[in-house]
Amino acid sequence: MKTQDSSRCKVHVCVCTNERTDGRTACADFGGLEFFQSLKTKVREEGLAGTHWVTRTGCLGFCNNVGTTVVIHRPNQPSEWLSEVTSGDFATVWEKIR
Ligand code: FES
Repeated sequence: MKTQDSSRCKVHVCVCTNERTDGRTACADFGGLEFFQSLKTKVREEGLAGTHWVTRTGCLGFCNNVGTTVVIHRPNQPSEWLSEVTSGDFATVWEKIR
């Protein structure tokens, strides 16, 4: 095992893109993957990929039938958990992380 230096990361955003095939709903049913892709694209377009990391995740535990779950991690700050995030919230989330 090797410890990595993540000091260049200013913000790490985790977006639930979980899918389920057992009949239960999951964030993929409510735009999770699309939200992740949009955020990743925006970060790249703005030239922030080196410091603004965006990761797709499995279930983050706040499943709902409205939107996806997003967690914003910043070094030395409490994480910010957002649920029921939809494409209509994209600009708000972007303002939080840029
Ligand atoms: S499926 Fe996304 S939080 Fe559970």
